[in-house]
Amino acid sequence: MISKLLVILSFVIALISGTRISNLNESCIRCLCHVAGCDLSHKCSEGYCGPFYISRVYWVDAGKPTLPDDDPQRKEAFEDCAREFHCASRIIESYLVNFGKDCNDDGVTNCFDYMMINYHGGRACSEPLFLTPNGRRWLTRFQQCRF
Ligand SMILES: *[C@@H]1O[C@H](CO)[C@@H](O)[C@H](O)[C@H]1NC(C)=O
Repeated sequence: MISKLLVILSFVIALISGTRISNLNESCIRCLCHVAGCDLSHKCSEGYCGPFYISRVYWVDAGKPTLPDDDPQRKEAFEDCAREFHCASRIIESYLVNFGKDCNDDGVTNCFDYMMINYHGGRACSEPLFLTPNGRRWLTRFQQCRF
């Protein structure tokens, strides 16, 4: 309950101050989708759902956003939100409000950092992506949609 309030509070503060999510705009969301695969018909595979391949843990850390009027306690609430592009985008935004930071330590928190966060999770995001084949695949795809 308290963590839920904190999530809402940090979201409101971020909206007001506009600091942490100001550059998480449409272009960045679309790029994050592209990097993850962005298959709009993807349901769930190996615990990852929707076009952004979101895990349940990520959804919980994002504060369990749902489709309008849905109940986060409902068993399929996570899957149904993650599979719908706009709801999934809200999961990404809420997660990044909580975990957004300058992962590569270049002085700005931008879409590249958000991509690193989506790859590693917010807590270990500073690890470079070029170290693994899958990380290098994400880097290549990010180059395709960077702006
Ligand atoms: C999104 O933000 C980036 C970086 O600040 C900027 O270059 C780009 O033009 C913005 N895109 C939109 C659609 O506002």
